[in-house]
Amino acid sequence: MPLVHLSDMINHAYRHHYAVGAFGVANLQFLEGIMQAAESCRSPVVLNLIESHFEGYNFDILMPAVTAAARQATVPVAINFDHGTSLAAAERAIRAGCNGVMVDTSALRFSENLWQTRDIVTMAHACGVTVEGELGYVPGVEGDNAKNHPGELAYTSAAEAVGYVERTGVDCLAVSIGTVHGRMKGAPKLDYARLAKIKDALTVPLAIHGGSGLSPDQFRKLIANGVAKINYSTALADAANRSIRENITADRKGVHNSLLAGVRGAVRGEAESCLRIWGCGGRAAEVLAQCRPWQEAQHLVLYNVQSALSESEAAAIMREAKISLEATPGVRNIHTGQTIQADGKYRFSLLVNFVSQSALLAYHNQSAQLGFPNKAFWSLVDEHVTLDIRES
Ligand code: 13P
Repeated sequence: MPLVHLSDMINHAYRHHYAVGAFGVANLQFLEGIMQAAESCRSPVVLNLIESHFEGYNFDILMPAVTAAARQATVPVAINFDHGTSLAAAERAIRAGCNGVMVDTSALRFSENLWQTRDIVTMAHACGVTVEGELGYVPGVEGDNAKNHPGELAYTSAAEAVGYVERTGVDCLAVSIGTVHGRMKGAPKLDYARLAKIKDALTVPLAIHGGSGLSPDQFRKLIANGVAKINYSTALADAANRSIRENITADRKGVHNSLLAGVRGAVRGEAESCLRIWGCGGRAAEVLAQCRPWQEAQHLVLYNVQSALSESEAAAIMREAKISLEATPGVRNIHTGQTIQADGKYRFSLLVNFVSQSALLAYHNQSAQLGFPNKAFWSLVDEHVTLDIRES
C-alpha cells in the first residue's frame, strides 16, 4: 500500500537534499508512463492532478485509476491536487483521493492570499492532507507557450514568505524566482540569491512550478537551495506529442491505439531522466520505511430504528443523514444497507469511508459539538453499535 503522506515524502527529500517530481497526469497513458518511470528508477513520485486540465478528462472518473495505480505501486506515491481554484474544489479533490492540495490564490493581494490559504489549511489539515501555498506569481499555463500568457512574473520576497508560512501553516511553499509555466519565451534566468534567502528564512521545504525547460545544472542549483518538489508537466506533453507525430508520419494506418502506442514510453523516458537528475532515483525503500502510510478509516454503525417507525420513515431518516454526512470534509463515500439474515441483531447499516483517520477524528469532534450528522437520526435510532476502523 505505497500511498504515503505527501508532507513526509517532501520533508524526506528536503532533509536529504534531493527533489521529488510532481508530474502532471493528463490521461491514463501519462499515469502509466509516470508510474513505470518511478518503478524503474525506484523513486518516490507525486501524481499531480492539475485543475486546469479537468476539461480534458472527468476528474471523478480518472481518480479511481490514479488511486489504483498508487496502491499497486511498489514505490511510495502521493496524489496532489494542483492549482485548485477554491476551497470547494480542494474538498472535492480530497474526497476523490488526493492527499495533498494546492489552491492557487497567488495572483491575489498578499493578505487575501494569506486568509484564503489559511482556510484551505484548516480544512485540509483536519483531514491529514498536506497543503502547498504559493507566494509570488509564476505566470503561464502548463502545456502552452509562455508568450500566449503574458502575465507579469512577481518574485517571492523572503520577508513576506516568513509571515505567510507562519500564519497559514502551509507544509510547503511554492516560490517564484524566475520560472514560468509552459514553454519558455527564452532562456529562463533564475534568481538563486533570492531562493537562498527564502530557504534560510524558512523551515518548510520549497516547491518549484514550471519545471519544463530547465537545464540539469539549474535543477541542481534549485535543489541545493531548498527545493524539494518540482512540478513538471509541459515537457511530458511535448514528449507525448512527438511520439504521436512520429506515428502519424510513419503512417500507422490511422488506427487510434497505434498512434498512441508510444505515449507511455515517451512519458516514461522524460520522467526517468528528471528523476535521475533530481536525485530521487533509488530512494524508494528509505522513503517507504520513514514515511507514514496513508491509511483510510471507516465509521460503521449497525442499528435498529424504533419499532413505531415504518420502513419508509427509516429510509427517509437515512437519506437525510447521508446528505449531511456527504457534505463533511474528508468523507470519501457512504454506504447504507439492510441486513440480509432474518435473525440479524441489527436491521440497518451505515458505513462512512473517511480519507484518513484524522478526518474520522475531526468528524467525531464536530459531532460532539454540533450533534452531527443530524440529531433526528440518533433520536430515532434504537439499539445500535458503532465501530471505528483503520485500514491496515
Ligand atoms: P510546466 O508545465 O511548465 O512543467 O509546469 C508544471 C507546473 O508547474 C504544474 O503546477
